[in-house]
Parts: sequence; structure tokens; C-alpha cells
Amino acid sequence: MVYQVYPRSFADSDGDGIGDLRGVLGKLDYLAALGIDVLWLSPFFPSPQDDNGYDVSDYQDVDPTFGTLADLDELLRRAHDHGIRVILDLVVNHTSDEHPWFVESRSSTTSPKRDWYWWRPARDGRPPNNWQSAFSGSAWELDEASGEYFLHLFSRRQPDLNWENPEVRQAIYSMMNWWLDRGVDGFRMDVINLISKVPGLPDGPLIAGGPLGDPWDGVVCGPRIHEFLQEMHRSVFAGRASTLLNVGEMPGVTVEEAVLFTDPARAQVDMVFQFEHVTMGPDKWGGTPASFSALKASIGRWQVGLAEIGWNSLYLSNHDQPRPVSRFGSDDPRWRVASACALATVVHLHRGTPYVYQGDEIGMTNAPFGSIEDYRDIESLNHFAHAVGVGQAPDDVLEILRGVSRDNARTPMQWSADPHAGFTTGSPWLAVNPNYVEVNAEAAMADPDSVWHHYRRLIALRHSEPVVALGDFTMLLPDHPTVYTFTRRLDDVVLTVVANLSSSPVDLDLTVGGEPLFVTGGPGADPAHLEPWEARVHRAG
Ligand code: GLC
Repeated sequence: MVYQVYPRSFADSDGDGIGDLRGVLGKLDYLAALGIDVLWLSPFFPSPQDDNGYDVSDYQDVDPTFGTLADLDELLRRAHDHGIRVILDLVVNHTSDEHPWFVESRSSTTSPKRDWYWWRPARDGRPPNNWQSAFSGSAWELDEASGEYFLHLFSRRQPDLNWENPEVRQAIYSMMNWWLDRGVDGFRMDVINLISKVPGLPDGPLIAGGPLGDPWDGVVCGPRIHEFLQEMHRSVFAGRASTLLNVGEMPGVTVEEAVLFTDPARAQVDMVFQFEHVTMGPDKWGGTPASFSALKASIGRWQVGLAEIGWNSLYLSNHDQPRPVSRFGSDDPRWRVASACALATVVHLHRGTPYVYQGDEIGMTNAPFGSIEDYRDIESLNHFAHAVGVGQAPDDVLEILRGVSRDNARTPMQWSADPHAGFTTGSPWLAVNPNYVEVNAEAAMADPDSVWHHYRRLIALRHSEPVVALGDFTMLLPDHPTVYTFTRRLDDVVLTVVANLSSSPVDLDLTVGGEPLFVTGGPGADPAHLEPWEARVHRAG
């Protein structure tokens, strides 16, 4: 399994209020005790931090806020000593506007690097097309000096690289090789399926209620995406150790495309990180969340779709998503532990590679922020300004942010009941969730019934039981409104997972064979009766 660290919020070793690599080093024993196989580090590269490091101004160094290259080398070495592989976040759909490539590109229309980015003249005095950026407003920014616009699918400080240009691709592959030679074990590639744009950059369909269009059809899995990823594979991964891991973050990818991306015979990526199950419903900022059975149907479809060829990533959260306990479970103190355990059981027993985002293993919850000043995330701040600007009541927008803001995942890791949850001796860059007094790693590790110990057992089970890694998947009771149940089968071993993902008890018409391996959230006497958030795993054979 893969454990994701968002360095800014994990552990601060020097008291500046921002987590750093030496902070991660200090927690390697903790990660080893949990049993992790792979550590994914979110960006720590030099960056103006417009999008918390997803705006990189130098791909081959460490930002002084996070430490030094020597710290990273030490982290690699010590992680390897623990048998933990380390993968880096590779953000190459765009750079920072402070990256020397962009500085050079912007310097003149005849710069040799002009074509490394997407520069276009105005169209009738307006941006070159109608695309909206993922962080509100137009996806084009006017450069006054040249009178041309550059494309940025994310913030205006994250100009998109032009992958059509072979020099861009070679520069990126050589940077990736430099990291692999240094000892990193692979990459999680940020929004990698957006790198091939549809020629002509056609307008997208208008987004309801505004003048801008949706860029999706012009950028998601564009015409050359497979060619680019195969070329990358040949240039970077071919001939190296087969233990390297290459994960593509791919918003909007379909099951059919994911099969093509992850088919080993096509040599592109090992896994995709898809979003269907966490983006169901009309739009991030409003509307009714998808029904429970739609969520199950989505995950089930991906299990079936990648059963023969390809491989799934399994997750409910990361640094861009709200906390699973608050979103899919219950953060009511009565149910927090049971629901966190039930969700973990369901995720970890599917076929694929589970991802644990820091803090989920202790059941951390969404942030109870009361004012826009509490937020730091550019997406949330831009959305608030936009929504209030078009007339929405600030309190209504805040209510939405409390449910979906990315800052929910980014509050500092809760290590102990010490001030600032033991995250820093200084003043944290984003407020600590006040529930740290009860919800913290130290307390969880001391309690055998905690969420932490349940994660540890689930991770150990995957290591010891081949059926967890390799078994077939069959969804049971697909239409049940609150129960998530499925089997995994390998030869004559069958695991049955049954989880009541609701705060009401439920009686089931289901025969569950074998002996219980785990029961959480209930006395576990009767598999046909589940307490609120009770989850069980039975093993037969
Ligand atoms: C990915 C990252 C997100 C970032 C965006 C732009 O979705 O996970 O945090 O803002 O790409 O780099």
C-alpha cells in the first residue's frame, strides 16, 4: 500500500509552522510501524507556493522551507532501510510562472523557449478560447508585454507546458532519469492525462450560469496521450528495476481508457488514480451528493473493468479531498471510530493498491473553519471570491467550503495532545483541528481498538493473505441502500466483507460463511445483524 505525505502538514522539525523533510524523517518509525510499503511525497521542490508546491520553479532541488537535497537523500536511504519505497510527485502538466523555462519563454515572442508553453494571440480582443481554469476565471492570462495570452488550466501562476514540443518532453524525461538515478522509486504524476491538448484548442461547452466553457473535451486524454506516455516509458522506465512505481493521476479518465493506460503490454503506467467515485454528483460546489448505491456501482464497475487487464488504485481521499470520515462516514464522536474502521475495511479489501492519506489512519475529520480567513487553499479562496462576487451569500459559500474545501485534508497532522497537536512548536500555517485533544496518533497507538490499529491490521492482512492482493472480486447486494458487501476469492479461499455504512442498525438476508477475521463497530455475534457502522471480514477455506 501507498501512504501519502503532504509535507507541509505532516511534521515540522524547525518550528517555522510548516512541515518539512526532517519532520518526515522523524516519523519514519511511525510509518514503518503502520506497515507501509511505499511513501508518496507531495511536492517539496522550490516553488512560490501559489498552489502549495504544485507550482514548481525548479524540478531538481528542495525548497528551503522543506529542507535540502541532503535531507532528501537521507530520507531515501533511511526509508529504504525500513523496506519503504519513496515516490515523488511529478508536476509536469505545468510549471510555476517563476520556473526559468517560463521566464525565458515569456521574455520575447522569438525566445527559443517561446513554444515550450501555450502562447496565443487574442481573439477579437478576448482570450483565445472560452476555457475556464480549474481554479475559477479564464484559463488564459494576458501577458501585457507581448500582447499574447498563455494557457493555465490551474492558477495563472501555473502555465501549461506544451508537450507537442519534443524539447519539452526530453527535458522532462531527463529530469525524471536524474531522480531515479538518485534513488527515488518512481512517481505519482500530477494530472498527467491533461498533457495532450486537442489541436486548435476548440471552445468547450458553456458552463451553466457563466460566460466560460468547460475545457474537459479539449484536454482530458487528448489525441497524443498514449504516445507521450509510451515515449516516457521508453525514455525513463524501460531497462530499470521492475519495482519502480509509476502512477498517473487522471481526472476524467474512463474505465476503458484506464485499461489501455495500465495494460502492462502497452508499457505506460502501473496504475491510474481515477476520480469517478469522488466526483459523482453535479459539481464540486453544490448539488446533491451521489447516492450510496451509485458510489458502489462506480467502484464495482472499476473492479470489474480492470479485473483481467490493468490495476486499480483504491482510495477515498488525498490532499484535494475532504476527510472520508466526514464525507462518507460520520464524524459524530459516537460513530467516528467505527465509521473510519468500516470505510478502511471496505477500501483495503478491494482488488488494487490501497492509498492512505496522512491522518486518515487515525480518523481525522474535516476542519470546522468559521471564516474565509481560516482558509489558505487557492481553489477555495478563488471560489469564495467568485461565488460571493456573483451574489451568493458568504455564509452559504462557507457552508459549502466546510464540506468540500481541500483545506479539510490539509490541517496539520495530529500527533499528540500537546499544543498544536505536536505538529509544530511554532505557529502552524493552517489551524490545527481542535479535536486533536482526542483525535491524535499517540492516543490511537495506545488503544488496541483504535482506527490506527485497524489500519495496521488491514495492511498486515494484505501482506499475509494472497487472496487480498490477488483474489477475484464479486459485489453482493448491489442495490442495498446502506450495506457494502463483496467477496474476494482465490482458489478455495473466500473472504467476505460486510459493512453497514450507516448510523442505523440493519438486518440482512445474507449468509456469510467462514470464520470472522475482523469485526469492528459491533459485538459481532450475528453476521445477519449489523450495528451502525459495523464491519466484518470472514474467511472460508
Ligand atoms: C492535482 C493536484 C492538486 C493540484 C493540481 C494542479 O490535481 O493533486 O493539488 O492543485 O493537480 O497541479
